[in-house]
Amino acid sequence: MKTSSGITVNLQELIRPEIRELRAYQSHLYPGVVKMDANENPFPWPAGMREALFREDIVFNRYPDSSARELKAAIAGYAGVSSDEILIGNGSDEVIQLILATFGGVGKAVVLHPPTFGMYDAAACVTATAVIRVPLRQGLYLDTEGVLAAASSPEVSTIILCSPNNPTGTLFERTELLRLVAETGKVIIMDEAYAEFSGESIIDEIRNHPNLLVMRTFSKAFALAGLRLGYLLGQATTIELVNRVKQPFNVNVFTQRAGIVAVRYLEKYQAQIAEIKAETARLAKALSEIPGFKVYPTQANFILFQPDDPDIWAEKLLASGFLLRHMGDLPVLGKCLRVSAGLPEENSAFIQAIRAIASERGAIKESEQ
Ligand SMILES: Cc1ncc(COP(=O)(O)O)c(C=O)c1O
Repeated sequence: MKTSSGITVNLQELIRPEIRELRAYQSHLYPGVVKMDANENPFPWPAGMREALFREDIVFNRYPDSSARELKAAIAGYAGVSSDEILIGNGSDEVIQLILATFGGVGKAVVLHPPTFGMYDAAACVTATAVIRVPLRQGLYLDTEGVLAAASSPEVSTIILCSPNNPTGTLFERTELLRLVAETGKVIIMDEAYAEFSGESIIDEIRNHPNLLVMRTFSKAFALAGLRLGYLLGQATTIELVNRVKQPFNVNVFTQRAGIVAVRYLEKYQAQIAEIKAETARLAKALSEIPGFKVYPTQANFILFQPDDPDIWAEKLLASGFLLRHMGDLPVLGKCLRVSAGLPEENSAFIQAIRAIASERGAIKESEQ
């Protein structure tokens, strides 16, 4: 590539080698479809919350509080920790990067348990952290012995565990998780993005382990995905380390205020969570009744399943107006689709659609015999 002054610039040579292979994240827009692809809370905010947020006196011309003091006080009450045990992020996606910017980097490695959330790999790449993969065992159990063995490598600084795991929906045994925290001597990140749905958490163990960090988000149960708000919990001395790499004004004033207001509506969210759980169970049952479908048990607000031909099913469901997440060819499992619970009426329509597609496909198969 030549500049206007005739000098040749080779951008590929100038960027870091890891970035050469990286592709920018792309989300597709499908107007008019029912979105069941991103594990969001499908309900509108609890009644009155939007008005309450817009009534707040938010100062937009000044920088936000870089320490997000009021928001931390609200989260501290919700999570049962103290304010200095919290770091606030622009979504937990940012928090993942901050963790690896702190504990990862050249010469360091992170242990992951595929199939799991894709952003861990992306953050490892951006921070030049090596990745050691210890796949889940058949039945989607955590390979605790395998993780322990991998963690004994001196370059391993960090282990990221996701429970309930995205995309499988699996909740790992607390005793197994605690074994890793107690025995590895490495930093353990527990991603609890879906903990409000499983009702299980390891936050109460933070006081016992300086190497335990728990990551949470307002994107799922709290329906704030568009505002970008995640947080990290850990002992104050550990949080202080991650705080060193955080940009001072990473979370804007509006989002900080929305988080504070959201926590006040906890009871109303709990009603939504109960309904989402019931809807997820209804979807799982309907999926498991379709011949040829393998449906994985879930403790979250989404379901991973394997239809007879995932590519065709994803296409047909999109044509019927339902956007699911095609997970690609997953380690351990192969090609799978993931569906997030929608509104009750959307789920009913989705169930009708899968039944219609299944009978259409059944009829085609019969006529081919
Ligand atoms: C396991 C897990 N962690 C983190 C995130 C990211 O959440 P946030 O919206 O807070 O960046 C997601 C989003 O899908 C997720 O599934």
